[in-house]
Amino acid sequence: MPWWFFRRRSRDTAPTATSAQSPSGWLPGEVALPRLQGSRRYLQEQPYLLPKDLGEVNRLDFQHYILRALLRGNYLAPLQQPHRILDVGCGTGQWAFELAQQFPQAEVVGLDLEQVKPSASPPPNYRFVQGDILQGLPFDDNSFDFVHQRLLVLAIPQTAWPAAVQELARVTTPGGWIELLEVGTALQDYLPSGPATQEFYQLGSQLAALRGIDTDGTVMRSLARYLEEAGLVNIHYQALDVPLGEWGGRIGSLMALDAREAWKAINAPIAARFGRSEQEILQLIEQAYQEWTQFRTQLHFAVAYGQKPI
Ligand SMILES: C[S@@+](CC[C@H](N)C(=O)[O-])C[C@H]1O[C@@H](n2cnc3c(N)ncnc32)[C@H](O)[C@@H]1O
Repeated sequence: MPWWFFRRRSRDTAPTATSAQSPSGWLPGEVALPRLQGSRRYLQEQPYLLPKDLGEVNRLDFQHYILRALLRGNYLAPLQQPHRILDVGCGTGQWAFELAQQFPQAEVVGLDLEQVKPSASPPPNYRFVQGDILQGLPFDDNSFDFVHQRLLVLAIPQTAWPAAVQELARVTTPGGWIELLEVGTALQDYLPSGPATQEFYQLGSQLAALRGIDTDGTVMRSLARYLEEAGLVNIHYQALDVPLGEWGGRIGSLMALDAREAWKAINAPIAARFGRSEQEILQLIEQAYQEWTQFRTQLHFAVAYGQKPI
């Protein structure tokens, strides 16, 4: 499926179901979830799987602090004094707010489909720009000396990843850095896994596959290759295996809570898609949550960064 396939249909002619069927069997009409499903709010006409609502704002902020603790900071790239920083798919903006505070001389831009926390008072050197990485970024070539993108694996269809990273490289200044952080999407990224984890995973991955989203962990494992193909050099790749559950200490406990909430976030579309009740899927998620401690499950993440040649 070409990466531009998911352009908003309000601007493009809607492809017919027969002409536009993807190799995975995805049909265009299936992307558009009802705006409200169960108690959650989802975007329409986007492959993005997770909700956009207050519950998700809270989860993303919670997750931000876990990831910051895990990385012992907000990034791994060897930055000097960046002048312009871009966070693609900025979510609540928390990461970008903190970069703006850390580098008060820099201009920090957060880009997302929607601004979700407009009531927050961001630092004066931060600004939000509405945009869609699948349509190309609304910035000139060589605009930012640090471009960051975190956890868009459930938003960018697998075949669109190389072009999306090339787009990040286009807006990066020579000598500037790109950093990507992603989570694994394969069952093997929850290892070892119990039966409830496996059952929920199968449902979630079938839903993701309908949108062309990676379900075998290829994206996370290909981050360094995408950077290399986009022409970057000095590439570093770091795998992070994060415990789920109290057995993994504070980060393990928090990450298990976060993963459980992330799974709950797709409860409604899974229940609707597979003709199951939301209560039934919630019980499955609770069982999986217990299993993570019982089996000592680890969830796989990876960070990759690279430099645009001067
Ligand atoms: C899982 S959240 C991660 C948010 C943030 N990067 C973080 O780590 O907290 C994914 C974000 O990507 C945004 N997003 C989804 N599809 C997008 C697209 N095509 N272009 C830009 N942002 C997108 C969503 O709105 C959401 O805020």
